[in-house]
Amino acid sequence: MKNIVKMSDLTNEEVFSLIKRGLELKNGKQVSPREDLYVSNLFFENSTRTKHSFEVAEHKHRLNVINFDASTSSVNKGETLYDTCKTLEMIGCNILVIRHSQDAYYNELTNLNIPIISGGDGSGEHPSQCLLDLMTMYEQFGTFENLNIIIAGDIKNSRVARSNYNMLTRLGAKVRFVCPDIFKDETLGEVVDFDEVIGEVDVCMLLRVQHERHDSKMGLSKEEYHKNFGLTQERYDKLKEKAIVMHPAPVNRDVEIADSLVESEKSRIFEQMRNGMFMRQAILEYIIEKNKL
Ligand code: CP
Repeated sequence: MKNIVKMSDLTNEEVFSLIKRGLELKNGKQVSPREDLYVSNLFFENSTRTKHSFEVAEHKHRLNVINFDASTSSVNKGETLYDTCKTLEMIGCNILVIRHSQDAYYNELTNLNIPIISGGDGSGEHPSQCLLDLMTMYEQFGTFENLNIIIAGDIKNSRVARSNYNMLTRLGAKVRFVCPDIFKDETLGEVVDFDEVIGEVDVCMLLRVQHERHDSKMGLSKEEYHKNFGLTQERYDKLKEKAIVMHPAPVNRDVEIADSLVESEKSRIFEQMRNGMFMRQAILEYIIEKNKL
């Protein structure tokens, strides 16, 4: 069974193939319709972009979309994730897209006979976000070799940071982090001073402060966080001419990034969302082909 639940599920060649297919679809190529297949989106955590861009992508494939609402499902009667997914497999679903708060939830699902695309697992990984981020960078630079990237924000709790760090490093980029001590993750790369590196970076990726995942308060006011770790106008003005600003969103405006910079010239934040739908079309096509559905 070919799943995409973490970036290590994909070879570098497969990643490049998905990026190029995403760009082709953005440029007007069409996917083959598959009215015979059923897909269900199981989101146990909130989502706007991931859930709905998968839905649009699924409709463009002419897949039958079975909407699953965790709040009215039998999960509320104590049914396990495995039994929920097995039920969907047995009633005829062909693909599951799952977001769950539990790290590596997919390890419980290895006995299923239905492919899984992860929409994010706890603080683990977010592969479809990583792939759309890669597509956005590739669109700008045409390569990842020697790209100088900083990821600023809540590194410790971020599945986006983990997927992007692992993948971008594999592809030859230099990835460093900017964050307060409480957001450091010792298992990832070097933490640097934002103001010392801002003038040399190609990609400035900002991450959301994930208030919902913190055991305790951040210890910094929003204003202090913005001043020390956010993209202010002063820092933006020091960026290289071709540098781009990214954020997986949702954005805490005036915390990770100044409100006025969210749609600035170098910002790709809303373009990432546009690319996300095309990348999810490419991911669905890949899963359909690899699993011979
Ligand atoms: N970037 C992202 O995963 O957004 P959602 O939580 O809205 O899906």
